[in-house]
Amino acid sequence: MKAVILAGDFATRLRPLSCTRPKILFPIVNKPLLEWTLERLVKNNIREVIMAVNYQTEIAMKQHKVKKYGTHISYSHDPLRKPLGTGGPIKKAEKQIGRDATFLVLNGDIYADANYTEILKLHEEKGAVATIALHKVKDPSRYGVAELTEDNRIKRFIEKPPQKETPTNLINAGVYAFSPEIFEHIPEGRAVSMEREVFPKLADKGMLYGYVHEGLWMDIGKPEDYLEINKILLNSFFTQQKLKVKNGVEIKKPVFFDKVSLEEKSVIGPYTVLGQNVTVGRNVCIQNSVILPNTKISDFASIKGAIVGESVFIGKGAKISEGCILGDHTRIGDKVSLAKGILICPAKEVFESIQENRCII
Ligand code: GDD
Ligand code: MG
Repeated sequence: MKAVILAGDFATRLRPLSCTRPKILFPIVNKPLLEWTLERLVKNNIREVIMAVNYQTEIAMKQHKVKKYGTHISYSHDPLRKPLGTGGPIKKAEKQIGRDATFLVLNGDIYADANYTEILKLHEEKGAVATIALHKVKDPSRYGVAELTEDNRIKRFIEKPPQKETPTNLINAGVYAFSPEIFEHIPEGRAVSMEREVFPKLADKGMLYGYVHEGLWMDIGKPEDYLEINKILLNSFFTQQKLKVKNGVEIKKPVFFDKVSLEEKSVIGPYTVLGQNVTVGRNVCIQNSVILPNTKISDFASIKGAIVGESVFIGKGAKISEGCILGDHTRIGDKVSLAKGILICPAKEVFESIQENRCII
């Protein structure tokens, strides 16, 4: 059984962190999103993985030495500077996928504890051309929305309908089972949107089915979502972790870290993830935040509700407020205070406090 992972877009809403890494390599409680997905594929006995990516993403995967969990990974590239959308890459990989068996396609930017085996089972039972995992959410307008009949047929599929016109709360969770016949429904040699061009037509023809996924599901497209999925996983898996810390460091669970250095009187948590080799000085306060590896946080600094990139330096007494995102290798001077929602581009040095909400280039 083969799985195609779609991971070719540029994640503009996650800048500045996505300037230096693709979404699939964003760490979620210190493990790249892609590794969570590969691990889940293997649990479902799927070991052949085709990454539908651009060249930069392939290079980034190799640089990051992504763990493969026993999968065999091959690549199918979008043409240079010509993204193929969500359908074009599937058509382009037709030969690699082959026409002899049903296959799985996953949106790479989703964290979902989906049961692929069950989805594939329903797909076979229904004799569908395509089966989509669906998930109930509060605001479906950001997603593809499906109308489902009692026998699991999708009678209508609408991509990102206006807020007032969403027919149901069941959205496309970005996990699909496709029969080889799907290739006949995707035009060749150009960008194609599965959601806007292919699914609506299949729904009209009665060939599209839906499997309702009730477990954990999150699209990490926006910074809030990224913090939220870390928070959810901290709550579900990491509350029992035994952490060894020096006397005088206060840990407010849930938190997760591994191989970090923490000095006295710092308060870490709740809802905090520290990447490997993060060093934290004395009297530091970090809560509701994710700090990527190799970052140094000096004495008396405070970080609340922020995402801090890799190899960042935060000076003494600096204050990083809610919604701030610091790109990799940024340097924040002593006593600098960043107001809510400030975004600092990679490698930028900031030596004066910033009060307005703006992006520093
Ligand atoms: N190779 C390649 N080339 N992959 C692409 C391209 C491309 O040109 N464009 C998008 N992708 C990949 C993205 O990397 C992502 O993993 C997936 O296809 C979906 O694209 P997004 O850009 O993240 O779309 P979205 O989040 O707005 O909407 C999609 O996902 C929702 C669930 O999160 C749609 O499938 C919605 O219907 C769905 O509800
Ligand atoms: Mg997305």
